[in-house]
Amino acid sequence: MSVTAHLTIKNVTRQFSVDSQTITALQDVSLSVTEGEFVTIVGASGCGKSTLLRLGAGLDAGHQGEIRHRGNVVLGPSLDRGIVFQEPRLFPWLTVERNIALGLENAGVSKAEKKRLVKEHLELVGLTGFAKAYPHQLSGGMAQRAGIARGLVNRPDVLFLDEPFGALDAITKAHLQGELQSIWSKEKITMILVTHDVDEAVFLGDRVVVMSPRPGRIREIVPVNLPRPRERTSSAFGEVRAHVLQSLNGTASLAETRATAGETKPVLPRPAIAAVG
Ligand SMILES: Nc1ncnc2c1ncn2[C@@H]1O[C@H](COP(=O)(O)OP(=O)(O)OP(=O)(O)O)[C@@H](O)[C@H]1O
Ligand SMILES: [Mg+2]
Repeated sequence: MSVTAHLTIKNVTRQFSVDSQTITALQDVSLSVTEGEFVTIVGASGCGKSTLLRLGAGLDAGHQGEIRHRGNVVLGPSLDRGIVFQEPRLFPWLTVERNIALGLENAGVSKAEKKRLVKEHLELVGLTGFAKAYPHQLSGGMAQRAGIARGLVNRPDVLFLDEPFGALDAITKAHLQGELQSIWSKEKITMILVTHDVDEAVFLGDRVVVMSPRPGRIREIVPVNLPRPRERTSSAFGEVRAHVLQSLNGTASLAETRATAGETKPVLPRPAIAAVG
């Protein structure tokens, strides 16, 4: 893996004003993601995970600090940065295949290539046979899978995924986690995935970013130095999972991070500010 800083989030603070009150969704968040890295993010509801992804994708602004992709300041959305939203956000008046094809809008591919890619991605997420269906004819999990297909279809340089498997049953989820991992390792897309599922975070991530709420901060970054494909039932996997869980609860120590991650190089220290929650 290259060590180029591919996506850099530097001292990002994002505040919202609600009812004349200021909500600090993110406070002084810094994260440097290398090209082809798979970073997963976990944290309690409301700690700013979606806000961070939207800023990274260029769908939100109004932050302090700086976000750069390939060295350029992120000023707005780009085809190079895809996002799979927490809710699928399909256009209700378009069929599933046309919703997926939207991911190729302005991508400069021929009609035939577009058709081939849409078909391939319908298959990938198990929606073959639903190409002509409308979103209201899908279950929540099916709609989410269509959203994943739309995010992947143009093979962006960086893909942000916001709880993409949240509404899926365990078998479909495990299948899609495997598929996502194989696309990632084949195509070397940089992936940043938010999840509430610690198993998923450890299974997929090169590093697991643990966030703490009110205000949203990075509490700790846990490296997952386990070979792929990862064995969820192995004791090494269990140790990293336990560590991430402890960190989420605000109880893990830096020494534990090193031990559980099998690290030889230094682990990013926790912020000096006391962790909340
Ligand atoms: N557009 C907005 N206007 C006002 N407040 C917002 C806006 N977007 C987010 N917030 C606030 O910022 C905080 C972080 O929200 P965010 O959606 O990023 O959390 P999250 O970590 O993704 O939570 P969840 O796990 O529930 O999806 C919350 O307090 C939320 O109310
Ligand atoms: Mg969210």
